Amino acid sequence: MKKMIFVILTTILLASCVKDRVKAGRDLFHGGEVDVKASQSAGVIVIKSGTAFNPFEGNGRSCASCHRAENKFGMSEATRDGLSADDRFFYMGLDEDQALLKGHGLVHVIGDGLDEFRQTPALNELCTLCNNYGNCESLGLNSDRTSNLQAFSLGAVINHHARSPARQPGVDFVLPSPGQVKDLVDYMLSSDVCEGL
Ligand code: HEC
Repeated sequence: MKKMIFVILTTILLASCVKDRVKAGRDLFHGGEVDVKASQSAGVIVIKSGTAFNPFEGNGRSCASCHRAENKFGMSEATRDGLSADDRFFYMGLDEDQALLKGHGLVHVIGDGLDEFRQTPALNELCTLCNNYGNCESLGLNSDRTSNLQAFSLGAVINHHARSPARQPGVDFVLPSPGQVKDLVDYMLSSDVCEGL
């Protein structure tokens, strides 16, 4: 009997830890405290007023500047066309090709030996591609990147969130802690992302 109570309590505790991580990851991913109910009824992410912050102390982009919940966490042409010219997606201080970015949504991708311009892929299938530890069948538009979600997310911060092309940690951005990377991964593998808004 005691053993059973212990198992039940541990399961509840673990489940609530995962829930906290998903929430922390969600807020970090979107750069503010997400109002889940308001987001679900609006069909786009709604950030609670006064809670927005600059993730990773970088250029002001959040992961969601490119990975939009209303587009299965990718970016559609219609969404891109509707962005205002000063949207952080078009951040001017990095080595983006502004014509490719504005005209075709092609983002400068650097990492894993690559230096290319690519579309932002949807993230809603990560939960079928990856196990709970974030090891995936493959990642990247051409399945040519690291297949570990933790390593990929760290690379995404360095790649897309820096203030300048030097991409110097501690100057252009602050590297996320291992806990923050885990939070991002737990969020990306959660039903919030897999099933969408
Ligand atoms: C400036 C736009 C931009 C931002 C900001 C951005 N990404 Fe991405 N993301 C991309 C692009 C472009 C790719 C495609 C890269 C490739 O194919 O190598 C991508 C790919 C990914 C993938 C791989 C998906 C797959 O199915 O292969 C993951 C996971 C990911 N991003 C997570 C993140 C996380 C986490 C953040 C925030 C820390 C982030 N991204 C910020 C543009 C962005």
